[in-house]
Amino acid sequence: MTTSDPAPAPARPADPAAGTPAVAVAARDLRWLVVGAGGMLAHDLLDVLRGRSASVVAAGRAELDVTDPDAVAAAVRDVDVVVNCAAWTAVDDAETHEAEAFAVNATGAALLARASAAAGARLVQVSTDYVFDGRATSPYPEDAPLGPVSAYGRTKGAGEWAVRAEAPDHLIVRTAWLYGAHGGCFPKTMARLAAERDELSVVDDQVGQPTWTHDLADLVVRLVEAQAPAGTYHGTSSGQTSWFGFTRRIVEGLGVDTRVEPTTSEAFVRPAPRPAFSVLGHDALRAVGVEPIGEWDARWEVAAPAVLAGEVA
Ligand SMILES: NC(=O)c1ccc[n+]([C@@H]2O[C@H](COP(=O)([O-])OP(=O)(O)OC[C@H]3O[C@@H](n4cnc5c(N)ncnc54)[C@H](OP(=O)(O)O)[C@@H]3O)[C@@H](O)[C@H]2O)c1
Repeated sequence: MTTSDPAPAPARPADPAAGTPAVAVAARDLRWLVVGAGGMLAHDLLDVLRGRSASVVAAGRAELDVTDPDAVAAAVRDVDVVVNCAAWTAVDDAETHEAEAFAVNATGAALLARASAAAGARLVQVSTDYVFDGRATSPYPEDAPLGPVSAYGRTKGAGEWAVRAEAPDHLIVRTAWLYGAHGGCFPKTMARLAAERDELSVVDDQVGQPTWTHDLADLVVRLVEAQAPAGTYHGTSSGQTSWFGFTRRIVEGLGVDTRVEPTTSEAFVRPAPRPAFSVLGHDALRAVGVEPIGEWDARWEVAAPAVLAGEVA
């Protein structure tokens, strides 16, 4: 594990479940543990936290395997907030390795939840649009019934259930269509292909909300700082587009003349089915006075230089 700014232990935040009026708390006055610290979202979360002078322990997989109960219990001692960014994210591989994916996404989440509750720490569990069936036609509210259509979605849904059952002081933050500077992601792949080819065919029948990991990291910190009540929140950009629409925007910004053509999911079959409609609503954020992330296209304009300059994975 690596630590930065080992500040003295701050006062514990108010307990929203106890009916204490929520009073904002600064990130720098809390002790944070970021689990799965080697991942794409965790990189940006660590940047945001360090930018706010927070006391943060970064635990990558080598330092903390979330499937190890003793290691998990030891790691959450003496922290105020645990953010679980660890996950089995290989969506297609999960179809043939569901037990291994379950061990990380569900059992790992359950162990972190139990340990966080015992230690009196707040747990932020990052979840996904894949817990839904993708058959909706309007944005999914936070309390919509789960109906995952893939093994990955089932394991993440089980992780949510475990966190609700084990850790009363939880924030489940569902996200989707993440891209970031520190990892392989859709815009980097499209930018590479656009440089190599005259034409790209991209599916136009899956819609969602492209979301920058930096924006999600900032939202997680703002939720904690606002002492948002325990519950489920949606951490995606506003608006919606298809992968085709997103690719057109990416290619436009590159200044290349690669043509982008729409295609269908049927023409581009993957091992794991993808939800066709992955648009998440943000009413729970608004209800607690936390501003949702802005429109996906405006956020992409801001993010593109940093993301496309990031390491190619
Ligand atoms: N990427 C997306 O589009 C997307 C969409 C919706 C939701 N999410 C959710 O967002 C969160 C962050 O995703 P991300 O894109 O940042 O994922 P990521 O880059 O794949 O990072 C996940 C991290 O978890 C680590 N990990 C795997 N097994 C572990 C274990 N047993 N113990 C500890 N760490 C372990 C991985 O380490 P190794 O690399 O060593 O395996 C990796 O560093 C996840 O909860 C994911 O489900 C992502």
